[in-house]
Amino acid sequence: MSNTIWSGRFSEPVSDLVKRYTASVSFDRRLASQDIRGSLAHAQMLVRQGIIQPVDLAAIERGLAQIAGEIERGEFEWSLEAEDVHLNIERRLTALIGDAGKRLHTGRSRNDQVATDIRLWLRDTLDTMDGLLQNFQKALLELAEAHADTPLPGFTHLQVAQPVTFGHHLLAYFEMLRRDRERFKDCRRRVNRLPLGAAALAGTTFPIDREWVAQALEFEGVCENSLDAVSDRDFAIEFCAAASLVMVHVSRFSEELILWMNPRVGFIDLADRFCTGSSIMPQKKNPDVPELARGKTGRVVGHLMGLLTLMKAQPLAYNKDNQEDKEPLFDTADTLIDTLRIFADLVPGIRVKPEAMAAALRQGYATATDLADYLVKCGLPFRDAHEAVARAVRAAELKGCDLPDLSLAELQAFSPLIEEDVFAVLTVAGSLAARDHIGGTAPEQVRAAIARARTYLSQ
Ligand code: ARG
Repeated sequence: MSNTIWSGRFSEPVSDLVKRYTASVSFDRRLASQDIRGSLAHAQMLVRQGIIQPVDLAAIERGLAQIAGEIERGEFEWSLEAEDVHLNIERRLTALIGDAGKRLHTGRSRNDQVATDIRLWLRDTLDTMDGLLQNFQKALLELAEAHADTPLPGFTHLQVAQPVTFGHHLLAYFEMLRRDRERFKDCRRRVNRLPLGAAALAGTTFPIDREWVAQALEFEGVCENSLDAVSDRDFAIEFCAAASLVMVHVSRFSEELILWMNPRVGFIDLADRFCTGSSIMPQKKNPDVPELARGKTGRVVGHLMGLLTLMKAQPLAYNKDNQEDKEPLFDTADTLIDTLRIFADLVPGIRVKPEAMAAALRQGYATATDLADYLVKCGLPFRDAHEAVARAVRAAELKGCDLPDLSLAELQAFSPLIEEDVFAVLTVAGSLAARDHIGGTAPEQVRAAIARARTYLSQ
């Protein structure tokens, strides 16, 4: 005797394999608290509208409270027979309180129920995410402040380009995370709409009050169209897209950490607690955490592709396909949460090696642009200045020295406009200080950016 909810319609039970294939309880049980919360609001509305009786509500509230306790204590018996989180809870409720439990599903379908649960879950997740991104930003800001003056070779094409400060470099990531937070915030607005009331797809014949339920569950409003309400998963895709960008940012940072930690570069060292050794090579200290974060980016981007493909060409309204939305969504959130937690801890453990950064700056003619700008300020057109400096760099290269190591006479061979004051321009400190405008790398500007960032973080 099958005990599934719809058994009356069927003449044979599903096979065990099909049962396992179609069940989602192994992963959607993590929606249990959202499911209970949604059921409570729905039941309260049913009473307010005179659709069920207050005694039913009292029983439902008592039963759901008990179930919540059982789940929390790990005593709840999840069963594959009942397929998913919704039916598991409903079945237990009916076992506990009888007919009132069977009345809970009046005017509702699992289709609007599951959409509501996911939205409630994602809303909480987005709030958690914002706090974690903020902590990561704080960690970057602290380190940036400590290194507002520390010169670092800025790269383009991974070749020495111009001096920047390490603080300025870190603030670039701060900006990426600021946009990430904005994207999540924007995503939250579209997550925060109530599907309940759409029922299976067309709405319900009962005189429900969707606005009341929306308010009770702190949604900003209701989904306007019942077909869309049960079948829309845009919000999950948006979340995964924003999450993918977070991971892309983390992967860029990770790549730099890995590069900076390579002994040939040696700009930083990571705290031992984020690294592991090799089972065969005793000398190794591997930057495992950044490497894994870089790798896990592929996983999160993959989930985005998975969800997009899941929804592509799906006809209206609900289709069982949609059950496949949860695992990528959950795994995206879990991966992000762990990654962000770890990075907020990893950043303060970065040991910066300013000497290695300074040494690298002495090798790549990082102030060549400054010399060109100097000549322009003396009246030379920029293209001519560029050419004069290119020749100077070649001469320095042949001599095996840096630009400021050339004598004034040697430099004047490339342009008679060059005077003694050129040497202030050719120093790293001079180069940095000269980029003195908003968004520039002058230490004064970096400190101003840090001050603005602090104000932003305190809002
Ligand atoms: N477990 C389902 C899901 O995750 C719940 C909705 C099922 N609805 C249905 N009519 N089979 O999407």
